[in-house]
Amino acid sequence: MSARLHPVCDSIAVSAESPSPLGGLLPRDPLRRAQVRDAALIVVTAVGAWVLCAFFNLTEVLRHLTAPYERYQLDELPSMLLVLGLGLTWFATRRYREARQEIARRIVAEAQLSAALADNRRLAQQYVQLQEAERKTLARELHDELGQYLNVIKLDAVGLRDDPRGATMTMRQRASAIVENCNHIHGALATLIRELRPAGLDELGLAAAVEHCVQIWRTRLPEVSLRLSIEGDFTTLPESVALTLYRLVQEALTNIAKHAAARHVAVRLDRSGSGAAGDSIEVTVADDGVGTAAGLPTRGLGLIGMRERVMALQGELAFTSAAGEGCELSARIPVPSDARSAR
Ligand SMILES: Nc1ncnc2c1ncn2[C@@H]1O[C@H](COP(=O)(O)OP(=O)(O)OP(=O)(O)O)[C@@H](O)[C@H]1O
Ligand SMILES: [Mg+2]
Repeated sequence: MSARLHPVCDSIAVSAESPSPLGGLLPRDPLRRAQVRDAALIVVTAVGAWVLCAFFNLTEVLRHLTAPYERYQLDELPSMLLVLGLGLTWFATRRYREARQEIARRIVAEAQLSAALADNRRLAQQYVQLQEAERKTLARELHDELGQYLNVIKLDAVGLRDDPRGATMTMRQRASAIVENCNHIHGALATLIRELRPAGLDELGLAAAVEHCVQIWRTRLPEVSLRLSIEGDFTTLPESVALTLYRLVQEALTNIAKHAAARHVAVRLDRSGSGAAGDSIEVTVADDGVGTAAGLPTRGLGLIGMRERVMALQGELAFTSAAGEGCELSARIPVPSDARSAR
């Protein structure tokens, strides 16, 4: 969709600053010029009508003509027409004002829409780049960590096969080298899998996975007091909801480590209240760090990505902060009814 505004909106937006070509008499903007022309036409027509009426003594003629019909009160028509004219003027003024407000609202909505589209475009590009970077890292890790160690294991195994009596190296030494290399491969595999998939999310559920994540951050940030509270049952959640909640906590904690310089952090997951809107989960991550001025432009994609994830599940996300007063990230995600019935 084009980010260009509606032509009428454009012209109104331009007219505010446009200098007039005739020393302020006529606006440069065509829409404004047409309005001034119409108003001038009405004034000229009214003055012309007044001159003609005066020339022909129209009121006297009318009064003379309607005198025989006095019982129908026709002589009161001019007053009634005057009131009708004033009423129509009032009506037109109100509609005009409403139209201007509507256009102003549309301009704001279109600006927000084009900002959201730009965000989405950046996000899509970032996703593609991240995917490529991840594939590259995976290929390198597989080559360096697994390929090389498998080679060494193979060499040891071939050595054992071809030199059963262990002339060059004792059997025990070769076997322990194989075990060591197997352990290394095991560790490398576990790291790779953890990066690709949150530890324990499938087997242990969301609560345990979040606890594990928070525990990792406690060791990474020993100077920060990290409090976690989990209320409600998180065992029967659709995978998309559980993964989104996990990624939310993960990104919020990463942001705190990167930007906040906080002393205290509170993470809360709550599925205890099922309000009128049905079952939903609330997640809040609050810190007492340096905060950030709301609405500040940023090249970061973490918050945008979180908002997209939450909105894809029909949830709501709010990020509140003020400079020096910490940040709070909170989201509410509805749980689909088929997942509730499985509880
Ligand atoms: N807890 C926080 N404390 C202070 N500032 C924050 C916090 N969380 C976010 N911000 C501010 O909001 C901005 C946007 O955060 P966002 O996660 O979108 O981007 P990022 O962390 O800078 O980059 P990315 O997440 O893409 O690696 C940050 O650059 C930072 O200025
Ligand atoms: Mg971030």
